[in-house]
Amino acid sequence: MKETILNYDDLLLMLDSLLREPSKFWNDFYSNREKGIPFFVNSPDENLVRYFEKDIFRTGKILELGCGPGRNAIFFAKKGCSVDAVDLSIESLKWAKERSIENNVNVNFIQANIFELDIEEGAYDIVYDSGCFHHIAPHRRMSYIDLVKRALKPNGFFALTCFVQGGELGGADISDWDVYRLLSLEGGLGYTEEKLKAIFKDFKVIEIRNMEACKQQDNTFGVSGLMVALFQK
Ligand SMILES: C[S@@+](CC[C@H](N)C(=O)[O-])C[C@H]1O[C@@H](n2cnc3c(N)ncnc32)[C@H](O)[C@@H]1O
Repeated sequence: MKETILNYDDLLLMLDSLLREPSKFWNDFYSNREKGIPFFVNSPDENLVRYFEKDIFRTGKILELGCGPGRNAIFFAKKGCSVDAVDLSIESLKWAKERSIENNVNVNFIQANIFELDIEEGAYDIVYDSGCFHHIAPHRRMSYIDLVKRALKPNGFFALTCFVQGGELGGADISDWDVYRLLSLEGGLGYTEEKLKAIFKDFKVIEIRNMEACKQQDNTFGVSGLMVALFQK
């Protein structure tokens, strides 16, 4: 019965197998911390800082998807939030834990594939994703949306930072069908405002815009080539 598709999960696993295996890729990616990757800085996203300044975000329970070395999770924790931060890479979480000790904050880092999480329904005020969603294959997108919806309380916020389609940082300008023709996400899928609105159509759009480029001394992370979006359940 090996490689027999009997249900929807079998189909998703078969499609996963056509694409890059993520754990090894991301652990290798984080093995050298000195390689000058923009998001390796320990500063929170500019949009995240603004949402607190504007009082849109307040202290609450946060789920971060694909937290990497933890810069945004640590910022939420400094704001007094209770943070569950998930990443599949053990290397990134080692780094994130070191940073949280240096910053004297407590974050519940969870090593897991986001699709294998056992999420308590309606437990979170905010679901935050900076740079994970654009690495999610199209066939997993429906599960991703279900995960966000299930995790959030009514009126909860979902904030996203992702590649601009054909932007300076990559943002593959290919169709979803192309992913399976090319057997690759080409380094991460690019998105447009129109596409994000269509994908997250069940949410209320609060804002979708290009990320503001920031100087390093600002202590916030902002680069062009990314777009930021804020939705409400
Ligand atoms: C571009 S990095 C962004 C890291 C972090 N959010 C930041 O901005 O500093 C994307 C992260 O998503 C994680 N990731 C990708 N797919 C994932 C999945 N299915 N489950 C959990 N983490 C995932 C990777 O391990 C990686 O750390």
